[in-house]
Amino acid sequence: TGDTELKRQLVHRHIRPFPDFPKKGIMFRDICPILKEPAALAAVIDLFEEHARKNYEKVELIVGLDARGFLFGPLLAQRLGIGFVLIRKKGKLPGATVSVVYDLEYGTAEMEIQEDGVAPGQKVLLIDDLLATGGTLLAACELMRKQQAEVLGCMVIIELKELNGIEKLKPLSVYSLLEY
Ligand code: PRP
Ligand code: ADE
Repeated sequence: TGDTELKRQLVHRHIRPFPDFPKKGIMFRDICPILKEPAALAAVIDLFEEHARKNYEKVELIVGLDARGFLFGPLLAQRLGIGFVLIRKKGKLPGATVSVVYDLEYGTAEMEIQEDGVAPGQKVLLIDDLLATGGTLLAACELMRKQQAEVLGCMVIIELKELNGIEKLKPLSVYSLLEY
């Protein structure tokens, strides 16, 4: 609808490109201006909510990725009247955790979730700010598989098309508000 397009445009106007950050050759897409403008943040959550209600009616839990998934996931979860659970980089969560090692551009990293964070069979939606190579979301899916949760899909604000993360995540469905 026209309303959806206007909201997308509003979000688009609040993403700032920074060339050569954090290193040469990378165009960093900064989402901080979205958070500074209530109408833009509301537009993000409206668009996520609309998509979730239409496509993921049975979702029981929002799972957000460290760190920028934490900025949007809880707001969406509140709108949907469901809970929010964190996937964190290693060493930040107390109690029993389940972890997964994943590949970065150079080397590896590890992320984890509290063992009682997600119950077997629970239907979850993964939330992050941005899809680049897809390594982060793929690792999150692996964690969900270990927990026997059912991933209905993922939602991000930005998809970086040329890195082809979508391909890596298939057959998982990824919804993005904007493509670059
Ligand atoms: C960024 C972004 C995603 C991830 C996407 O996080 O917020 O989580 O990279 O990249 P990928 O698709 O290639 O895996 P970053 O690793 O910079 O961590 P941060 O959110 O803690 O800043
Ligand atoms: N995470 C991975 N690539 C990124 C980019 N180009 N901008 C912002 N966050 C990112």
